[in-house]
Amino acid sequence: MGNRENDRPIGVFDSGLGGLTVARSIAMALPHESIYYLGDTKRCPYGTRTEDEVRSFVMQAGRWLAERDIKIMIIACNTATAAGLRLAQQMLPVPVIGVIAPGARAAINSTRTRRVGVLATPLTVRTGAYTRAIKALDAGVSVYGCPAPSFVEIVERELATGAHLQERWLQDGDVFDTPENRAEVERTLLPLVESGAQVDTVVLGCTHFPLLVGPIRHALGPGVRVVSSAEETTRELTDILCRREQLAGEDVEPQHRFATTSDNIAEFAAAGSFIFGQPLKSIEHIGLDELDRC
Ligand code: DGL
Repeated sequence: MGNRENDRPIGVFDSGLGGLTVARSIAMALPHESIYYLGDTKRCPYGTRTEDEVRSFVMQAGRWLAERDIKIMIIACNTATAAGLRLAQQMLPVPVIGVIAPGARAAINSTRTRRVGVLATPLTVRTGAYTRAIKALDAGVSVYGCPAPSFVEIVERELATGAHLQERWLQDGDVFDTPENRAEVERTLLPLVESGAQVDTVVLGCTHFPLLVGPIRHALGPGVRVVSSAEETTRELTDILCRREQLAGEDVEPQHRFATTSDNIAEFAAAGSFIFGQPLKSIEHIGLDELDRC
C-alpha cells in the first residue's frame, strides 16, 4: 500500500533537455515513482554563464520545485550541480542530490590506470568540482578536464531539427553521429587525446553529452571507456529512498509532469519524448518572471 507522503514526486531539474537522460534512467529503475521535471530551456546553456548566475537559477528552480510538494530533488545538470548544489542543500526544505558525485563514482569504478578525463561544460571544468569529487574517492587518480563549449548547442540544435528523432539513441548510440558532429567533437577532444594524459576512462560530465556518445567514442578510440552519471545517480537515489523508507507504493501508477521555460512547447514535447523514451503527456510553460519571483 502506498502512502501519500511517499507517493509525492521526485523533482528533477536541468538547464534544458539534457536532464531527461537522468529522468529516463530514474523512470526505468523506479517504475512507481512520479517525476516532476523542470527544464530551464529558455536560459540554456548554463555552461557558458558565470557561477553566480547559475547558482541563482538553481535556487529559483529549487524553490519552485519545493513548492510543488516534491519529496527529494535531483539537480540533473552537472553545471548547476557544480555551481549550486551546496547552497541548494543548505537552503531548500527537501534533500537535494547532484550528479557530480555519482559521475565521479562511475569514473572511479571504471578506471584501471587511475587516469580519468572529464568532458564537461566550460563552467563545470572551471569550478574543479569533478576533480575534487574524484580525488575525494581516490586522491591518487589523475584528472584531465576537457571543456566542450559547443556540445550542448549541437545537441539542442539536433533535437530542435527533429530529423533524427525516430531513431532510438540509447540502443545504437549514434543518433547524432554525422560527419559535421564528428569533426567538431574530434576538434574539441584533440587537446585531451594529444595531451599524453593517457586516460582510460572519460566521464561525460554534462547530461547532454550521452546524446553525442557515438562521435565521442569515435574520437577517443576503442581503448577508452566512456561513462556517465545517470545510472549511478539513480542508484544513489534508490538507496536513499530505500533507506529512508520513502519509496512510492507498488500499486502507484506514476504521474510524470514536465515544466519548461521554453516558449515552444511542441518542440520541447517532441525532443523531450525522444530523450525520455515515452511521451511527455503533461507539459506546462513557466515564465521567467514566475521563476524570478521564487
Ligand atoms: N546539461 C547541463 C550539464 O549537465 C549543461 C547544459 C548547459 O550548458 O546548460 O552540465
